[in-house]
Amino acid sequence: MSGNKQQILPCASADLPAIYEIINESALAYKGVIPADRWHEPYMPMAELESEISKGVRFYGYREGGRILGVMGIQDVRDVTLMRHAYVRTEFRGQGIGRALLAHLRERTSRPVLIGTWKDATWAVRFYERNGFTLVGEDEKNRLLKTYWTVPDRQIEESVVLADHRWRDGPSQQAKRPLVAPRDLQAW
Ligand SMILES: CC(C)(COP(=O)(O)OP(=O)(O)OC[C@H]1O[C@@H](n2cnc3c(N)ncnc32)[C@H](O)[C@@H]1OP(=O)(O)O)[C@@H](O)C(=O)NCCC(=O)NCCS
Repeated sequence: MSGNKQQILPCASADLPAIYEIINESALAYKGVIPADRWHEPYMPMAELESEISKGVRFYGYREGGRILGVMGIQDVRDVTLMRHAYVRTEFRGQGIGRALLAHLRERTSRPVLIGTWKDATWAVRFYERNGFTLVGEDEKNRLLKTYWTVPDRQIEESVVLADHRWRDGPSQQAKRPLVAPRDLQAW
């Protein structure tokens, strides 16, 4: 086996320092972009990371030559799966690592997938849109963030939610879909 083999594997407790390092280095992308009152350093303290894991976020790491280059978490909540904490080391972005992690994690669930992110992180929104997700409308976003996440109201104001086709085509959505001409529908 080549030492540079790329693999996506579930993270173990020994990977915690690497996950912490990657999240906090990568999250510097938000600095000066998201509202100043939402930014803090480190972006995710170790206690918060441990708490996320204890609440069921399972991290996967994209590894090359034994080093983790990017991480992404998956969390089942009620009837959906959330993709959480997607971070690729700054120097390795734009090489398909995020795409590979997202595809790998999506194969691990048959539930509808939802993703929340900062509305100002336009690169992240574009990344998810290119990978088949679409932004939900404002009212739906508020409802989803309150139902499936535990985030303060101020964060809800500054966030967006993207959903995959399973969510868009699911029975709950179809029941709610208004009977109007397609041109009157919002993007989601
Ligand atoms: C969002 C993020 C996880 C995506 O990971 P990534 O490995 O860069 O993603 P990919 O390389 O698979 O895809 C990025 C796209 O942007 C393009 N791109 C080109 N240069 C790039 C660069 N310097 N940085 C990012 N993307 C770049 C890629 O070619 C690709 O386009 P494509 O989908 O049309 O092929 C990563 O950019 C990141 O960690 N950003 C900072 C933290 C963040 O915003 N996280 C999201 C939290 S919800």
